Amino acid sequence: MILGSLYMRHYAHHTLAYIYNCRQKHSGNHRHPFFFLFNMQAAANAVQNRMGLVPTATTAEYKHVEGGATMRALAWFGSGDVRMVDAPIPDITEPNDVIVKVTGTTICGSDLHLYHGEIMALQKGDILGHEFMGTVHKLGSNVSNLKEGQRVVASFQVACGNCDYCKQKLSSFCDRTNNSSLQNYMYGQRDAGFFGYSHFTGGFPGGQAEYVRVPFGNVNLLPIPDDVPDERALYLSDVLPTSYHAVVDTGVNKGDVVGIWGLGPIGLCAAKWALLKGASRVIGIDAVSARLSFASEKMGLEVIDFSKHSDVTKAVYDLVPRGLDVAIDCGSFHEPKTILHKVQKAAMLETDHPETINEMIVSVRKMGRCGLIAAYAGFANNVNVGALMEKGVRLIGNGQAPVHKYWEEILNDYIIPGKFDPTFMISHRVPLEDMDKLYRAFDKRVDGVEKVFVETQFSSPHSAGCPKTSRVDDWAA
Ligand SMILES: NC(=O)c1ccc[n+]([C@@H]2O[C@H](COP(=O)([O-])OP(=O)(O)OC[C@H]3O[C@@H](n4cnc5c(N)ncnc54)[C@H](O)[C@@H]3O)[C@@H](O)[C@H]2O)c1
Ligand SMILES: [Zn+2]
Ligand SMILES: [Zn+2]
Repeated sequence: MILGSLYMRHYAHHTLAYIYNCRQKHSGNHRHPFFFLFNMQAAANAVQNRMGLVPTATTAEYKHVEGGATMRALAWFGSGDVRMVDAPIPDITEPNDVIVKVTGTTICGSDLHLYHGEIMALQKGDILGHEFMGTVHKLGSNVSNLKEGQRVVASFQVACGNCDYCKQKLSSFCDRTNNSSLQNYMYGQRDAGFFGYSHFTGGFPGGQAEYVRVPFGNVNLLPIPDDVPDERALYLSDVLPTSYHAVVDTGVNKGDVVGIWGLGPIGLCAAKWALLKGASRVIGIDAVSARLSFASEKMGLEVIDFSKHSDVTKAVYDLVPRGLDVAIDCGSFHEPKTILHKVQKAAMLETDHPETINEMIVSVRKMGRCGLIAAYAGFANNVNVGALMEKGVRLIGNGQAPVHKYWEEILNDYIIPGKFDPTFMISHRVPLEDMDKLYRAFDKRVDGVEKVFVETQFSSPHSAGCPKTSRVDDWAA
């Protein structure tokens, strides 16, 4: 312990100089995990300030409406500390903007990484939320494809619509909307800017709010037909395209036996997509009993409870002696199971644990495919690189999902014809005012919470067959 803290203090003192030197050397070999050995948020922000921001095609700061009217929104204040606040209502700031009046928002496993302070460059007061829909409230002068009052869903990414990536609808990889020099330094390139997801992804205020400014509203908003209710449309923002991308990008083929690590909303949807793409069997791995029983009883998955099977790979081979064809990581990098990685993570010797990656590499057959859709952020130690290489495993970083590539296909070919009904995963509906409490409840995964529909004062009543409004205090006491 003492050694650990001396070690950390040593690096805390030298961090800025160290990072700055690394940047000057500008070589891939210098992206070192010691980068993180200190108060990550403060240091990340300091480094970002020092490096300066990358110029982008839009700005994250928004103009406030005249008269100073405010809205309710959920803001980040520190690890485990999110609060409902009054924030200025955004106004059109650039001619490509659309202001959306939010009728549906939600919480995501990715928000838990922010809640735990695992993503860099968060700042006190940042409005979170990257999944939202609503009606068009105001249109910038350049936006001609939408009308006031029209129902729309936003992509979690802010894409420009014009760069080489955007031209291929790879919207999450847009080159022109994320000003984070820190991400550019760490990854060599930058993702798109994301709504409500820290200054590592551009610092755009998010959708756990009553109004949102959507830059490049002509490309980042998908019109929703009147007969598709909000509960079926909202998840086009992220969960549906993300899980679909994980399955398509990792290459699930007819007859494949697929393992899914993590049975949150992303994992459950990935399992459904895998079956729709012809998988012969899907094995789901998790330890949350409500999620395991939902997956086995309601969806027909074979399940492994990792709280009962310390050797998950053995449990997989007991079920599938040949090994899995495909494994998809839909879990979370912030919950290591073993002492080895609990210690390494606590000592900040790694930011992300490799346990799921290793289990997947070992559980797939030779030349099997492993996809990472779970949102990793930094460095993991002890990866079983031998098994990866010797077995010819294809380890695929799926990336942040390019929502624009898939959202029309999912809406038109799956949601409207009823082939994929996203309401199966909605466990609760709560008012925006409960958002801070929802973070705590969703983090603890109480009362079978899965995907939640969060309503605002502008929402329609719940639609038939979907959960009615409840208060978080009533089910998460
Ligand atoms: N790449 C993208 O575009 C994208 C988009 C959205 C979400 N995500 C990521 O997908 C992941 C899942 O999101 P979600 O909303 O379903 O999150 P969630 O937190 O609701 O679910 C994660 C599940 O993983 C399980 N889990 C944790 N450690 C595990 C382990 N070692 N083995 C098996 N299961 C384990 C948890 O018990 C939990 O049920 C998150 O990491 C999220 O950040 C990525
Ligand atoms: Zn999300
Ligand atoms: Zn772009």
